[in-house]
Amino acid sequence: MQHKDQELRARADRAIQEYQNVVESDPYRLHYHVMPPVGLLNDPNGLIHWNGTYHLFFQWMPFRTGHGAKFWGHYTSEDLIHWKWEPIALTPSDWYDKDGCYSGSAVEDEGQLKLLYTGNVKNEQGERETYQCLATSQDGVHFSKKGVVFELPQGYTPHFRDPKVWKHDDHWYMVIGAQKEQEGTYKGCAVLCQSTDLSEWTFLGELAASGSDSVGDLGYMWECPDLFHLDGKDILLFSPQGLEPQGMKYHNVYQTGYMLGKVHLDQVHFEHGDFQELDRGFEFYAPQTTLDDKGRRILFGWVGVPDQNEESHPTRAYQWIHNMSIPRQLHVVDGQLVQTPVEEMKRLRQHNVHIPHVRLAHERKQWEDVKGQAIELLLNIEALSDDAIFEMNIRQHARFIYQSKERRLTLERHSFAHGRTESRSCRLSELKSLHLFLDTSCLEVFVNGGEEVFTSRIFPYPEEESIVFAVRGEAQIDLKKWDLQATRE
Ligand code: FRU
Repeated sequence: MQHKDQELRARADRAIQEYQNVVESDPYRLHYHVMPPVGLLNDPNGLIHWNGTYHLFFQWMPFRTGHGAKFWGHYTSEDLIHWKWEPIALTPSDWYDKDGCYSGSAVEDEGQLKLLYTGNVKNEQGERETYQCLATSQDGVHFSKKGVVFELPQGYTPHFRDPKVWKHDDHWYMVIGAQKEQEGTYKGCAVLCQSTDLSEWTFLGELAASGSDSVGDLGYMWECPDLFHLDGKDILLFSPQGLEPQGMKYHNVYQTGYMLGKVHLDQVHFEHGDFQELDRGFEFYAPQTTLDDKGRRILFGWVGVPDQNEESHPTRAYQWIHNMSIPRQLHVVDGQLVQTPVEEMKRLRQHNVHIPHVRLAHERKQWEDVKGQAIELLLNIEALSDDAIFEMNIRQHARFIYQSKERRLTLERHSFAHGRTESRSCRLSELKSLHLFLDTSCLEVFVNGGEEVFTSRIFPYPEEESIVFAVRGEAQIDLKKWDLQATRE
């Protein structure tokens, strides 16, 4: 619907114009993370490296800082670091996507950039309908909708969305997040479809499902599945809803993780190991990956979790909410996904400070030059006594604590919802390094070269920039710090 589309674009552009100054005046506005120009950002969509340019689309609600009928916002980049705002890719303007152009992916086909996404519809009875839709583009900027290419198959509820598409041999495949009803309860699952032309799809079956023998109980809905091959393994990455906390695991409202194994597309079968959480922090959800021209498997995640205190985010007062993670490269090491910041992040470094090989024993320590709001810190732990408790206090607001004896690493922060301290933990075999990317109100920490990652929002007093170390027992550390250049004015 041409008219509706134009009207929605004009309204969204007006929202940007109207609130740009307000968003820009927020002290918590990010310096180098992708964030919305106004309104709410959630899942990364359509991530692709096409004709030498990275395209990052995202779920976007321009009119308020809550969820609703989503648009696809669009950024492009030559280097994964500096992002250019592009015309809106998709608006919820048609009968089949009127309540949201929900998540999906991008592929290259016959020289065109093609998007597959979910059209979300609430019908007159207030019931949900779901349609998998196609949109195509010659130039990667202007998209033309081709309508519905796949409808809800029998046996699934309308919680059926977020197609991730790839090509294998002569066929296209698409994995979709789904829900089915079994013995009176809802089970999350990932289903597989096949096509020769992206326009007509055949349902093949389920790749994995909660409640099955191999998966066990794993929630009532799986969102944003992604299936890819990396370092000799096949990986199904997805965001299940409905898991209960278990020891140190699953403390966010919804989870994100993966199962690693071998996929047999012809038999619609995925042989896999256990579900493993991808991130240990407070906010991380719905990540998506792509293979770039350099052969790297790149991942972006949403630094947010649906329904998790979203109404309490301080940035809402400035008309925006949520951001993307920094781009990360994935690898499989010893049967586990390892995430590292992409090389390109180094280009933002300036003003290096190096504190080499310092011994700390039963003391608190702070260095004049080691502080800031938008910085990178690389801390190597060269030695740690068996009884040591090592702490790193970030801007008097969040704190990493490593307890040698228990081999437990904990991130604590002041909750932005209730002001009390809350924590997330994981077990390590030892603590070797902490690599921090701090950006006004976002913290990403890669532990032991990316074996574990903690991603979280933090809202310290903007002028409080201190980093303080404290050691009970003994430690030797090597510390490097850089200021990180802002990638936006
Ligand atoms: C995940 C999700 C997706 C959906 C989109 C809607 O955060 O709920 O399943 O497509 O967000 O914005």
